[in-house]
Amino acid sequence: MSDTPTAHPELLAWIDDVAALTTPDRIVWCDGSTEEWTRITDELVASGTLVRLDPGRRPNSFWARTDPTDVARVEERTFICSTDPDDAGPTNNWMAPDEMKATMTRLYRGCMRGRTMYVVPFCMGPLDAPNPMFGVELTDSPYVVASMRIMTRMGSAVLDAMGAGATFVPALHSVGAPLAPGEADVAWPCNDTKYISHFPQTREIWSYGSGYGGNSLLGKKCYALRIASVAARDEGWLAEHMLIMKLTSPEGQVRYIAGAFPSACGKTNLAMLEPTIAGWTVETIGDDIAWMRFGADGRLWATNPEFGLFGVAPGTDRRTNPNAMRTLSRGNSIFTNVALTDDGDIWWEGMGEPPAHLTDWRGQDWTPGAATPSSHPNSRFCTPIGQCPVLAPEYDDPRGVPIDAILFGGRRATTIPLVTEARDWVHGVYLGATLSSETTAAAAGRVGVVRRDPMAMLPFIGYHAGDYFQHWIDMAKGATGDAEKLPKVFYVNWFRRADDGRFLWPGFGENSRVLKWIAERLDGRGDAVETPIGRVPTASALDLTGLDVDKADVEAVLRVDRAEWEAELPKVTEWFAKFGDKLPAVLWAELDALRARLRDS
Ligand code: PEP
Ligand code: MN
Ligand code: NA
Repeated sequence: MSDTPTAHPELLAWIDDVAALTTPDRIVWCDGSTEEWTRITDELVASGTLVRLDPGRRPNSFWARTDPTDVARVEERTFICSTDPDDAGPTNNWMAPDEMKATMTRLYRGCMRGRTMYVVPFCMGPLDAPNPMFGVELTDSPYVVASMRIMTRMGSAVLDAMGAGATFVPALHSVGAPLAPGEADVAWPCNDTKYISHFPQTREIWSYGSGYGGNSLLGKKCYALRIASVAARDEGWLAEHMLIMKLTSPEGQVRYIAGAFPSACGKTNLAMLEPTIAGWTVETIGDDIAWMRFGADGRLWATNPEFGLFGVAPGTDRRTNPNAMRTLSRGNSIFTNVALTDDGDIWWEGMGEPPAHLTDWRGQDWTPGAATPSSHPNSRFCTPIGQCPVLAPEYDDPRGVPIDAILFGGRRATTIPLVTEARDWVHGVYLGATLSSETTAAAAGRVGVVRRDPMAMLPFIGYHAGDYFQHWIDMAKGATGDAEKLPKVFYVNWFRRADDGRFLWPGFGENSRVLKWIAERLDGRGDAVETPIGRVPTASALDLTGLDVDKADVEAVLRVDRAEWEAELPKVTEWFAKFGDKLPAVLWAELDALRARLRDS
């Protein structure tokens, strides 16, 4: 190829191969510039994929509607293509790499006809990291290009840093909708046939048929979690589905906390919460993904590999997440599958009183009281993290931040107390491995069913989950072999309900009260009772100053109910049995010990 902005031979050869297979009309190298963003978003407005919002309220921001069949990650179409099916394990779909490549090569043949193939060089994490994590996405979706510019460090600077020899993850994406000569395009091209495929041994990603979120923005779930988790296993680190926050006490003591929660369980809200207790501050480092590596000091240091926020919109408002609203008000954002107001703004369920008329996510007229919500429950905002008013300055530090505590949390109406402290690292791994949550709209499928979601990574572990648990246990050997330097683990549940269905805990900013107790525990203070499931705060150990909440509710949200826990035991046995020989024996031992403690309680 002449006239290319790189001399990287493998990159050029790969692009040649893909172009020969997919036959795009043209190839565009993305430089990441403002001019390029303007050109691409103008084109997307002209083609009807994007609608420009009122620049007075939402500068440089856009509204997108997807095809109604392309609205979430498609877990049943997501594959881990290891040579040995046993390396994918029971929690992933598997197909042999050769077979998947043959199948997808047939689909890719001619699939970019009539379209532009964009070359998107990107870097997960800071470009000045000692070992920058490069990727290149080839995509025929300009919506993906615009979104990748928000979500990753992308463009010429990345290509320059790659030079002619850097290793990169090749990530191929097509919406699977070639155009015949003269054929008019649709606003959201996609294909009923979808594959989101990962080749962990060769560190490649092939995606076909979907233009949506985690299916198409391949730096995010595909690279930074599924492929990176495999690299992390091989190299002794962790690639996790976790927020990262900086918590500062009134005395100025800083604690860094990582938290794993399944999709649509409030990670973004927690990552930028406004504490309701005096003198405490929270600053954001990440809301979705944490890469944690050992520092020379033997501690785990976390970085956020992303550059933007891809948050669930419904439920986000001034009360639940004022800092997200401020981030969005600075513009430069893409809103997908929310509702459009008549004056060129966006609206979604949870954002106060609905306007008298909206255009809903399907493009239909919508008025308050309509039978269906105006916004899809998995509608999203995509916005630069640099606009977050409480972004911690450490966000850009390639060393990351030393993690003091790891939270595991799910959405459970019963059983799980507001907060529980693990006894030690292995007990913490047990809590993560048995994490469970009611399903949400973040993935296609039924909502509200309790499923195990280990470390909130069920859809994102790029290998056998039993090996993944072992890897977590092995982290205790650490860089220095000093397990005392590992983060302390806590299990939280903001979603426990009373018998009448009410939430027992107000959530959101009030979760700072739980963070305060965690900080006190890290200092060796804070009252806790030993229970069969771990250490739980006494009702008086939580700072409830100024909180209008029933004492009985606080007791109920902290209660360890023996009958409820005994009902969990067979479910955990069944869950662990899925992993056969690969389930670490120490986790069976944890289950046995829990059973014994419950019996004796
Ligand atoms: C996504 O679907 O693209 C995504 C960001 O994932 P999650 O469901 O974890 O929010
Ligand atoms: Mn997520
Ligand atoms: Na999703």
